[in-house]
Amino acid sequence: MAIILGLESSCDETAAAIVRSDRTILSHALAGQEDHHRAFGGVVPEIAARAHAELMTPLVETALADAGLTLNDVDAIAATAGPGLIGGVMVGLVTAKALAMASGKPLIAVNHLEGHALSPRLIDADLEFPYLLLLVSGGHCQLLRVNGVGDYKRLSTTIDDAVGEAFDKTAKILGLGFPGGPAVERAAAIGNAHNVPLPRPLKGADEPHFSFAGLKSAVLRAHETGQYRVEDIAASFQLAVIDCLYDRITYTLDRIDAPPALVVAGGVAANVPIRKMLEKLAAQRGMRFVAPPLWLCTDNGAMIAWAGAERFGMGLTDGLDFVARPRWPL
Ligand code: KG4
Ligand code: ZN
Repeated sequence: MAIILGLESSCDETAAAIVRSDRTILSHALAGQEDHHRAFGGVVPEIAARAHAELMTPLVETALADAGLTLNDVDAIAATAGPGLIGGVMVGLVTAKALAMASGKPLIAVNHLEGHALSPRLIDADLEFPYLLLLVSGGHCQLLRVNGVGDYKRLSTTIDDAVGEAFDKTAKILGLGFPGGPAVERAAAIGNAHNVPLPRPLKGADEPHFSFAGLKSAVLRAHETGQYRVEDIAASFQLAVIDCLYDRITYTLDRIDAPPALVVAGGVAANVPIRKMLEKLAAQRGMRFVAPPLWLCTDNGAMIAWAGAERFGMGLTDGLDFVARPRWPL
C-alpha cells in the first residue's frame, strides 16, 4: 500500500496532506489566505505566492506530524504543477522537488484539475470509471467524461466566465465580500429567487457549452437600478446558474451514451442548492450521484495526494525537471 504526500498551492489555499492508496486520509493540513486578500476583493497573485512560501514548509511538517510519519515513510511526493497562479504553483512544486531530492522518493506532478476530477474516488470506493463529471471551480466550468486516470474527454466548457468566477463577481457587485461563492449562497438562502428577472445564457441553445458573463452583467444592471434587495438578487442569480447548469447538462446527456454516475467536483460543488439540483437530475436519469464532502470540493491537499496515489499506482512519476504550467488543459 502506497503512502503519498500531496501539496497544493495553485490559488489561495496552501495545503499538505497524506493519503494512503486504500483511501485512508492520514492527515490534511490547510491554511486559507482570505485575510491576505480580503482588502483587495480578490486573490492578488504576488501576495498569494509569498504566503504560500511562508506557509508551505510548516504545513508539510504538520501533515507529517499529524500522521505520525517522517518523510522516509512516504512513498512519493505529489504536488500541483498547474494550472493556476504560476508563483504559487512554483512554490508547491519546488517544495515537492526539494523533498523528493532529499528523500530519494519520486515526484508526481499533478494537474490541479485532475486532482478535482479524481477526488470523488477518494471518498467513494464504489465509484468506477467511466463517469460524467461536472467540474465547476473559480477558473473552470466543464463537463468531462472521465474514462480513467489521465483519460478525460471534454464534452463542453464555458465560452466566457467560469461559474465560480460568476459567483465571485456577483459577490463583489453586491458588496457581499470575499470569498464570494459562500457569501452569495448565504445571502441567497434568505432571498426571493423569483424577484429579479435575470437571463439564462445559452439555455436551449443547440450547442453544449456554458456561458455566465451575460448573467454577471445583468446582475450589475439590476443592482444599479436600486430596485432590488441584495438577497433577492443573490437568490435570483443562484437560481439562474442552477437553471443554466441543468439545461446544459441535460443537453449533453441527451446526446451521449451516459455513464452510470454523475459526479460534481471543484469549489462550486460546495454549493448546496447546486448539489441538490444535480442529485435530482441524476435521479431523473437513473444515474448515481456522487459529490465529495464540502471540505474536499474546495482546494485542498488530499485531492492532490489522492491523484498522486492513483498515478503512482499506474507507475506514473515525473522527473525533477518538470516545469510548472500556468495553463494545462486536462
Ligand atoms: O476549486 P476552488 O477551491 O479553486 C479553484 O480551483 O478555482 O474553487 C474556488 C471557487 C471560487 O470561485 C468560489 O467562490 C467558489 O469556488 N465557491 C463557491 C462556493 N464555495 C466556493 N461557489 C458557490 N457556492 C459555494 N458555496
Ligand atoms: Zn481548484
